Amino acid sequence: MRILICTAGRHGATHTLGKEMARVFEHDGVDVDIRAPESVFRVDDYDALVIGSAVYSDRWLPVANALVERVSRSAHPPVWLFSCGPLHSSDRPVNVTSDAAHATTVLHATAHRTFPGKLDPERLSVGERQIFDNSGAVAGDFRDWVLVCNWAREILACLTAGRPGL
Ligand SMILES: Cc1cc2nc3c(=O)[nH]c(=O)nc-3n(C[C@H](O)[C@H](O)[C@H](O)COP(=O)(O)O)c2cc1C
Repeated sequence: MRILICTAGRHGATHTLGKEMARVFEHDGVDVDIRAPESVFRVDDYDALVIGSAVYSDRWLPVANALVERVSRSAHPPVWLFSCGPLHSSDRPVNVTSDAAHATTVLHATAHRTFPGKLDPERLSVGERQIFDNSGAVAGDFRDWVLVCNWAREILACLTAGRPGL
């Protein structure tokens, strides 16, 4: 079985979640490719595709959205989506972004999950720092490896049962 994982982020947290999923898949004997979204044009030779994006100001990153559009126009395997970004301070549900909803629809994705991420103020650009300072969000490392591993195992269970559409 072959699984492709594509993650889009700015500061590495989303990529680490993808790498952790890859570790779980590989532990089960799956061949895994991790590739940058902008380098992916064909996905039809994989058994599953996982696309993850960090959330910045309620949006997925453009490279993730562009991949979604490309994949939606061609043959593709079952798709799982995830968002990384736990830090929203408004009263809206965290990361119910229009981009994730759109991707779920156009790719007929099996599931979309939101995972807590990481924010280190020292690593932000000036513009990011301004947004962060005005957001009321809390800095820290909120990545939950158990959640991520369990989700990867759910994906595997779905695929090995041959019921990725469920
Ligand atoms: C400028 C800025 C805006 C952000 N906006 C959101 C947001 O709208 N919703 C959210 O849940 N997290 C938001 N976050 C948190 C990031 O999604 C989180 O830090 C994530 O783990 C970053 O992933 P990355 O390291 O892969 O870029 C924001 C962070 C920054 C610095």
